[in-house]
This record gives sequence, C-alpha cells and structure tokens, in this order.
Amino acid sequence: MTPLIAGNWKMNGSLAANEALLGALAQGLAAPGAAEVAVCVPAPYLAQVQALKAKWPALARLQLGAQDVSHQATGAYTGEVSAAMLQDLGCRFAIVGHSERRQYHGETDARVADKAKQALARGITPIVCVGETLAEREAGHTVEVVKRQLAAVIHANGHCISEIVLAYEPVWAIGTGKTASPEEAQAVHAVLRAQLHAATPHAGLLKIIYGGSMNAGNAAALLAQPDIDGGLIGGAALKAPDFLSILAAAA
Ligand code: 13P
Repeated sequence: MTPLIAGNWKMNGSLAANEALLGALAQGLAAPGAAEVAVCVPAPYLAQVQALKAKWPALARLQLGAQDVSHQATGAYTGEVSAAMLQDLGCRFAIVGHSERRQYHGETDARVADKAKQALARGITPIVCVGETLAEREAGHTVEVVKRQLAAVIHANGHCISEIVLAYEPVWAIGTGKTASPEEAQAVHAVLRAQLHAATPHAGLLKIIYGGSMNAGNAAALLAQPDIDGGLIGGAALKAPDFLSILAAAA
C-alpha cells in the first residue's frame, strides 16, 4: 500500500515560519513520489497553507490536515472547529485522539470516537491516535490499552472504520527521543491489524502509521516492518530536510 508520511506541527509556527518551511518543502515535493505526504497544522494556519498550495504548484502533492476536530457538527460550542469548516479549508485529514489531547484536554475514548465520526461525515480522513503511557507499558497493559482505544472508534463508526488512518503513538516515545524499536512497534501494529480484521474486510488496506520520535535516522527500519504503513512526525516535521528524508525513506 502507499505509505503516508504526515507531519504534526503541534502548537508551533507563525505566518512567516510556515511560509519558509513550506517553501523549503516545495523544492523536495516538486517531483512525484511513491508516498502520500501531509502536514497537520494549527487551525489558524489552515487557510494560509490552503492559499500557498493554490499559489505554489510544487505543493500540489502536499495534503492538508488539522490537528483536531469538534465532536459536534455545528452550534454553540465556543472555540471549537467543525469538520465542515475543515472541509471548507481543503482538509484531507484530521488528527483525533492525540495523546496530548487525551492527557491535557481530558478526551475520553468515546469523545475521540465521536470526533472520528464527525470527520468521516465530511469526507475527512481521521488519523486516530492510540498509544500507551510508560506506566501502562511497564505494567504489561499495552495491548489492552490500545485495543480499548480502538474498540471505541470501531464501535461508534461501524463499517466506516475502513476509512480511517490509525496511528500507533506510544506516549513514552513522543518528543522524548526514545523510539519504539521496529520490532516493538510492529508487534503492536499487528495486534491492531488483527482487531481491524475482525471489524472490516478491508483491514488489509487500512493504513496503520507509527509516531513517536520518528526521525531521518530511524524511519527506514520502522517503515520496513510489514504492518507499519507510514509515520506521524512531530519534531522532525518542523525541519524540511528531516521531513523530506523521512519521506524519502518511505518511498
Ligand atoms: P515526535 O515526533 O516529536 O516524538 O512527536 C510525535 C507525535 O506526537 C506526532 O503526532
């Protein structure tokens, strides 16, 4: 399957910095490639990236994503951004259930499942994040945790589950420089693939991507695993050469 390399800029950037980063990426993205590529940018900058994509043909390959989406469709939800708004801004993807949202914004499994549903209703592919904390891993609960997180999304979305991208992001590997070994990551991806197989006949086509300190040095070994279909990149997505190296490793 075509791998997906998605950058998650998190709460970084400015109008000037984004333009510089996209300018540098454009040079590397001008030629067609064998991988899908996306950037998930802060909501206030979605329109900027949409406009730059329209202006610079070299960015045609770069798909746009958001970092979150509301669990509601419309109405009195101050501060929220709806899936319809993301659709308006040309978003192809929306990250849902990132561990930073679960941890700092109290997002439950059920809330994450509702967000995935809202995205799917607008033709936006939710990048559904699952992953265990260090304490959960050390207690031997990794499989139980990620299966519980995924089960909620399967339960709420039925046969539409075949339309998601799943991201395994072990919380202890995010921003820490500690990556899951290719074998550790593959083992969890295989568990998730099996769970998806039980839910949809299309599980073999569904992308399961890895996130957590993926960088130019370790990407190739991770992406070589049979059930790792791409990467969700944090820190390394803010540096064009690093992000492009990871993309090259996927192609
Ligand atoms: P880092 O690549 O900075 O570890 O972040 C991973 C991540 O959380 C992507 O969503």
